[in-house]
Amino acid sequence: MSKRFTLTAALPYSNGPIHIGHLAGVYIPADIYARYLRLLGNDVVFICGSDEHGVPITIKAKKENVSPQIIVDRYHKIIKDSFAEFGISFDNYSRTSNTIHHETASYFFKKLYENDKFVVEVSDQLYDSDAKQFLPDRFVVGTCPKCGNNESYGDQCEACGSIHNGTDLIDPKSVISGNSPILKSTKHWYLPLNKYQKFLRQWIGEEHKNDWKSNVYGQCMSWINDDLRPRAVTRDLDWGIPVPIEGEKGKVLYVWFDAPIGYISSTKEWAKKEGKDWEPYWKDQDTSLVHFIGKDNIVFHCIIFPSMLKAEGSYILPKNVPANEFLNLEGKKISTSKNWAVWLTDYLKDFPNQQDVLRYVLISTAPETKDNDFTWKDFQSRNNNELVAIFGNFVNRVVVLTHKYYKGHVPSATDLKSDDHYVLDLLSKTPNSLKFSLDRFRFREANQTMINLARSGNKYLADQEPWKLIKSDPIRVQTVINTALQIVAGLALVSEPFLPFTSSRLKSMLVLDKELSWDGITSGDILLPVHHRINQAELLFNKIEDSQIFSQLSKLNS
Ligand code: 2FM
Ligand code: ZN
Repeated sequence: MSKRFTLTAALPYSNGPIHIGHLAGVYIPADIYARYLRLLGNDVVFICGSDEHGVPITIKAKKENVSPQIIVDRYHKIIKDSFAEFGISFDNYSRTSNTIHHETASYFFKKLYENDKFVVEVSDQLYDSDAKQFLPDRFVVGTCPKCGNNESYGDQCEACGSIHNGTDLIDPKSVISGNSPILKSTKHWYLPLNKYQKFLRQWIGEEHKNDWKSNVYGQCMSWINDDLRPRAVTRDLDWGIPVPIEGEKGKVLYVWFDAPIGYISSTKEWAKKEGKDWEPYWKDQDTSLVHFIGKDNIVFHCIIFPSMLKAEGSYILPKNVPANEFLNLEGKKISTSKNWAVWLTDYLKDFPNQQDVLRYVLISTAPETKDNDFTWKDFQSRNNNELVAIFGNFVNRVVVLTHKYYKGHVPSATDLKSDDHYVLDLLSKTPNSLKFSLDRFRFREANQTMINLARSGNKYLADQEPWKLIKSDPIRVQTVINTALQIVAGLALVSEPFLPFTSSRLKSMLVLDKELSWDGITSGDILLPVHHRINQAELLFNKIEDSQIFSQLSKLNS
């Protein structure tokens, strides 16, 4: 039965390009899930956009001595293009500087304000007297009061994921001047998270005990069992959405208040373009809302945003938040400032048209349950030993033999033997196996199931040796090639969420019927009928040489 899904992927800060850590942690899993749900005929909207407010943008602008607008315009385009190039199939990619977002976020804030959902407080906050400004969020670093990490930001420690106020930091230092801040009093609006503790304990603790990933559930419960404190949702800054209260000047919404509302504004923008109603995607209890994020965003998506939605009252809550851990690179934490990263724009220059190789490697090593490592050596061996030697080799041999023996026409199958039944049976079970894994957000497992189908096809062909049999038993060869072709066609269909570019090339190579579905595979439909004519073989994957890997490693260390 078709269902409605609203899928969101974390809005990246528009202050730098995208690297492999972003893809592996958030965007590839989200894209696989969106493609999978669409393939099953669901009503899916897959939403993202650039996060253009907040301190990270202002800091970058200060460093370059330009306005924040220049920064966000530059990176919005780069990021949007990278996503498109890697086949991330967003239905809408918006930006939080758009008017529709400013209006949506202001309206949301006003509604909470008018319904007395905030508490106002005047308190001492960190202030840089040289720079003459307050130091919210990333404008200050210091030691995390919870885990002792000495590079914690004012609002969040990325090492332990905890959130705090700047004044909680031990030995804070201004990022602008390096000075120790002074305290200065200022007024802010706070969301009293303590009032939502009971609701969160019930909603996450009881309702999602069994269906949320254990890393997400565990983190949430540890915060909920700690004391949740009121959280300021406004800031003394000049870049952001102005606080929509008469007479309040020089204050903007906290970026983590406006950014998740960006999912709603992006959906509105999409609905307008498509002539649809956005509201069922956010307000109908039958809609499944799923947030794809990295682990540093868990608290914002599982505690703060749901409390905001609950306070507003008319929205649904996320059904799942399948957050991933972090991806390291060659044993070290990916770092933008240390340039220890593989940037997507660079990757495509060095490996043109090889998006699926990176997608495949990143899913294979996705940090689903623990931090994981990307190495160039592993990239090379997964490409050469799996994509080239298994997937590509199998497809190529079958298509070439079909042309060699039958001028590209599908031969007929007669008198199927147990080996043929075995591999066809595996094919018909593959969609359900994929569904089982994907419904549980186990993307690595699903990817393995997909490549295992190619592996079994390749083994089947090697065992049957049609190139030897052609002289002694040409009738048997017809059955073997027919069977192998059905597996190749099945691969073209099941690989779509994982390897969309390859799947599309393979479908054209096979001139595959567009109506075929995963359900058809399960029910044993003939995917390529007898006499159907396929196109000539083209290579799907290319071997990656040691010199290419060496050059990537040198580039990293330069
Ligand atoms: O961590 C980040 O990169 C944030 N820009 C994610 C925002 S997600 C959402 F809430 F918009
Ligand atoms: Zn910490």
